[in-house]
Amino acid sequence: MTVALRVENLRKQFGGLVAVNDISFEIKEGEFVGLIGPNGCGKSTTFNCISGLLQQTSGRVEVFGEDVSEMRPDEVHKTGLTRTFQHTRLWRQMTVIENLLVPPRNQFGNSLNDRIRALFSNSRNPDEKQRLEMAYSVLDQLEVPHMAHNLASELSGGQSKLVDIGRSMMGQPKLLLLDEPVAGVAGPLAMKIFNNLRKIVDEEGITILIIEHNMDFILRQGVDRIVVMNQGEVLMQGTPDEVRGNREVIEAYLGSKGENQEEE
Ligand SMILES: Nc1ncnc2c1ncn2[C@@H]1O[C@H](COP(=O)(O)OP(=O)(O)O)[C@@H](O)[C@H]1O
Ligand SMILES: [Mg+2]
Repeated sequence: MTVALRVENLRKQFGGLVAVNDISFEIKEGEFVGLIGPNGCGKSTTFNCISGLLQQTSGRVEVFGEDVSEMRPDEVHKTGLTRTFQHTRLWRQMTVIENLLVPPRNQFGNSLNDRIRALFSNSRNPDEKQRLEMAYSVLDQLEVPHMAHNLASELSGGQSKLVDIGRSMMGQPKLLLLDEPVAGVAGPLAMKIFNNLRKIVDEEGITILIIEHNMDFILRQGVDRIVVMNQGEVLMQGTPDEVRGNREVIEAYLGSKGENQEEE
């Protein structure tokens, strides 16, 4: 079976702070996996190293067998990996459909210029019409076709998260890394988002790794496996049942949850 993502002894230090402490895990093609752990345990830093935004201190990352450890974000993106960020930023004065057509920040360069250039190079592409069709079909898949012509500034936080996920699907990624896509999203919409992601994994064969900090929530969302992090380390990985059955995990998690302030 193909390995979509292999993380080997990944380490990231910020000065004396060890944010990610030699972690290793693998995600197989077609899996839907949760990455969970208390705030500050190193989840987003792990994504930042995988996607090339941060240079790891040591360790190795492979995407579909290709060593991406030294690649820039746009190079990593070309291997089929797309990621979202914990804090969603849409173009507020554009409609939902327009937002889907503009490449998001970081993986295409940060400046407005870079992204506008990417937009124009896309529209010169013979697939322009297909891109528009894809944008509509992504909204269909997420069950929000009615939002297509709303301005992003009119959306709720949860709806913005949904559009952000839609935007990440536009490049037809093979591997999607989603950073807390349902944080601060009301329960029913959060569940709907997970259901739709499950459907995307099953029907499109896209591999998804999703960060979520609410353990109780993710245990009920039908992911295939969960990787549990705590204080920069992988505490355990297993099916939701295995994680539920592991008292050490629950205690470490609940223990540190008690000390940390939950931030949304
Ligand atoms: N750019 C950075 N510079 C310095 N410290 C950072 C940076 N990014 C994250 N950290 C620290 O690394 C640790 C892990 O952070 P993060 O990966 O964001 O955690 P999580 O996503 O699990 O909440 C935290 O202590 C955080 O303050
Ligand atoms: Mg984070």
